[in-house]
Amino acid sequence: MQIPEHIALILDGNGRWAKKRMMPRNYGHAQGSKNVEKICRAAYNMGVKYLTVYAFSTENWSRPEDEVETLMKLLNNYLKDCIKQTTKNNMRVRIIGDITRLDVSMQERIKELEELSKNNTGLNFQVALNYGSRDEIIRAVKRLAVDCENKALTIDEIDEKVFGNYLDTKDIPDPDLMIRTSGEQRLSNYLLWQMAYAEMYFTDTLWPDFSEKDLEDAIRYYNSKERRFGGLR
Ligand code: IPE
Ligand code: IPE
Ligand code: MG
Repeated sequence: MQIPEHIALILDGNGRWAKKRMMPRNYGHAQGSKNVEKICRAAYNMGVKYLTVYAFSTENWSRPEDEVETLMKLLNNYLKDCIKQTTKNNMRVRIIGDITRLDVSMQERIKELEELSKNNTGLNFQVALNYGSRDEIIRAVKRLAVDCENKALTIDEIDEKVFGNYLDTKDIPDPDLMIRTSGEQRLSNYLLWQMAYAEMYFTDTLWPDFSEKDLEDAIRYYNSKERRFGGLR
């Protein structure tokens, strides 16, 4: 079986998973965050080299204050665990998104984690945190404009590769496969530039229930597709 080099995941359905159990949404988030490590391990064992998960979008700030607070706490704890685990499991962790809006303590934790894991050679694990594709593109355009203004770059030099280097995903290959759980079939502002040619797999399974078998199903679907990139095969 052909294994996608890069899988992008939209972890959706935590709230609905909790609701089905008459539990508060935050309980679903706690269960959902526990599932991430398991799927990372499974993906790596299958031969996936890059895994990017959508943990918190630029639009998620509009959720009720207590839910945002819980999500931030969970993410902060998750980063803390990662710092402990990353050397043991040889994972390289990078955060994509605008981290300047996060708590200073969280920003420091992110820097520590990225620095600590930068030479690890196992799974490349990206967490999209306060991430929105349009926001990422605007931030990239602003930096690019500054470089043009400072004459570090000429307008003629701008091409897809140069532009890609201004994105948060610099040095990370484009996703081959996108998986979204919980039945929604939309991108919700995720990796719009990078997923120009990604295969899309949607499953009704809610994120806390998403298992190794579901991951295998997604990879089987990927294998059933003929990748053409606009050409003919
Ligand atoms: C995904 O689950 C987690 C985040 C967006 C942070 P949701 O919270 O979106 O769960 P549903 O979609 O309401 O069920
Ligand atoms: C997308 O899920 C964002 C994350 C999974 C972090 P949402 O549940 O927030 O997306 P919409 O609002 O249903 O499009
Ligand atoms: Mg949702």
